[in-house]
Amino acid sequence: MPALPEAPGPKGHFLLGVLPEIRKYELDYLTRLVREYGDIFRVKVVNIPAYVISRPEYIESVLITNQKNFVKSVYLRESKALFGHGILTSDGSFWREQRRMLQPAFHHRQIARYSRVMAKRVAGMLETWRDGEVRDIHADMMNVTMEIIAQVLFGEDIAEETREIGEALKVFFEQFDDRFGLYAIPEWLPTPGNLRYRRAIRRLNEMVNSIIRRKQAIRQDSGDILSALLNARDEGGQEMTTSQLRDEMMTLFFTGHETTALALTWTWYLLAQHPPAMQRLTEEIDKVLEGRHPTFEDLPNLPYTEMVMKESLRLYPPAYAVVREAVEDCEIGGYRIPAGSTVAMFQWAVHRDPRYFERPDEFRPERWEGDFQKTLPRCAYFPFGAGPRLCIGDGFAKAEVPLLLAAIAQQYRMELVPDHPVLLSPSLTLRPRNGVKVVIRKREPAAARGAGTGPA
Ligand code: HEM
Repeated sequence: MPALPEAPGPKGHFLLGVLPEIRKYELDYLTRLVREYGDIFRVKVVNIPAYVISRPEYIESVLITNQKNFVKSVYLRESKALFGHGILTSDGSFWREQRRMLQPAFHHRQIARYSRVMAKRVAGMLETWRDGEVRDIHADMMNVTMEIIAQVLFGEDIAEETREIGEALKVFFEQFDDRFGLYAIPEWLPTPGNLRYRRAIRRLNEMVNSIIRRKQAIRQDSGDILSALLNARDEGGQEMTTSQLRDEMMTLFFTGHETTALALTWTWYLLAQHPPAMQRLTEEIDKVLEGRHPTFEDLPNLPYTEMVMKESLRLYPPAYAVVREAVEDCEIGGYRIPAGSTVAMFQWAVHRDPRYFERPDEFRPERWEGDFQKTLPRCAYFPFGAGPRLCIGDGFAKAEVPLLLAAIAQQYRMELVPDHPVLLSPSLTLRPRNGVKVVIRKREPAAARGAGTGPA
C-alpha cells in the first residue's frame, strides 16, 4: 500500500488523549469534532488510536464490503465478563456457527408467537397504572421488556429471578464505565465497587446456570429460546455446552430488553414534547384498532406508529455507536488506518447529518413517509447496524416497540415532569441518566370506547 497520510484530528492530552473531553462533554464533544473535522478524524483515547468515520460510504466499507478486515473492538471485549463468548462479542467461525444456531429463534413465525407474550405483559403493566401518577417511564419500560425477554428466553415463570437478574445487571453497569482508560480502578483491587461488580457477575452466573440446569433436566421443547438451543446442533452435530448456553442467554437477556426499553423510553420522551405527533399516533391507533388490543397482525396497518419508531431511533439510537478494530492496515477516505486501531461509527452523529436529514434535530416522523428511506445512502441510517453483524433481534424489536407503543398510547398520554431534567448517559447504550419522569394521563373517552378483547 502506498504511504497514505494520517487522518486529521485533535491533539489531546499527551497521556490521556481526548479521554478527559469525552468524560466531560460526552456526545457534545463528538458532535463538535464531527463538525470541525468532517467525515473522518483521528482521536487518541489514552494509548488507543481511534478513527471516527461518519460518511455512509466509509461505514458501508467497514460493516459490509470490507467487513472481513474488522473484528469486534476492545470496548466490547471489555464486556466479556457479562457476555462471555456470546454472539455479540465473538468473531470468526465461532461467531458464524453461533449465529446459525440462534437464527431460527428469530424467524418471523417465532416473532409472531413472542408477540403474544409482549401483548400480555404490557396489558399486565397497564393494569397497575393509575391516572395522574408520576412514573419513571424508563424504569417501567425496562421492567416490562425484561419480563417479556425473560419469558421468551426461559419460558417458565421466573418473575423473582428476572427481578434479581435486573438488579444485578444494574450494578454491573454502574461499575462498567469505570473500567476504561487510566482512570480505571484495577479490577483485582478489593474496592467496594469492585466487590459489588464481582458479586453481581457471580449472582448473574448462578441464576442463569440454575435455570439452564433445570431445563437440561427436563429436555422438552417448551417453545422458548433456551429449549430450542438445547436441541440445536452445530455443523459437526455438537450441541452447545452449558457455558455457551449461559453466554448466549446472558447476551440475549441483555440485548433483548435494554435496547427496546430505551427505544420506547426515548419515544415517549419525544411524544410528550410533540402533541401533534401524539395526536396523529392516537388517531391511527383508535381508527385501526377500534378499542381492541393491538396484535402482531395489526402492525402493517399502523404505518404512522412505525414512522414514530423510526424517527425516535434516528434521534436517540439506543445503540448509538458501532465499533470495530482493524485486523490489517487499510485505507478509508484516502487515509491510512493502521492494524489494531479502533474504528468508531456513531449513529448519533450520522443520523443528525443535514446532508441526509433535513432539519436534522427536529422530531418529524412524517419524513419517513413514502420512499424516503430508499433515497438514503445505505448506511446513513443504521440503528440496527449493517452487514453480517446486523442486529439479530431487529425483527423482534420492530414488533415489540410499535406493539407496546400502540398498547400504551391507546390508554395513556404522557407529560414530562417539568423539574426533572432529562440527561443523556452514553454508556454501552444511550441511557437517560436519572430516568424520564412523566405524569400519565388516562385518555378518555377514547380508551373507554371499547373494552376490546384481551390479549391471548
Ligand atoms: C431497538 C432495539 C435494538 C437496537 C437499536 C439494536 C441495535 C443493535 C446493533 C446496532 C447491533 C450491531 C452491533 C455491531 O455491529 O457491533 C446489534 C446487534 C445485536 N443485537 Fe440488537 N438491537 C435492538 C434489539 C435487539 C433485540 C430485541 C435483541 C434480541 C432479542 C437483540 C440482539 C442482538 C444481538 C444478539 C446482536 C449481535 C448480533 C451479531 O453480532 O451477530 N437486539 N443490535
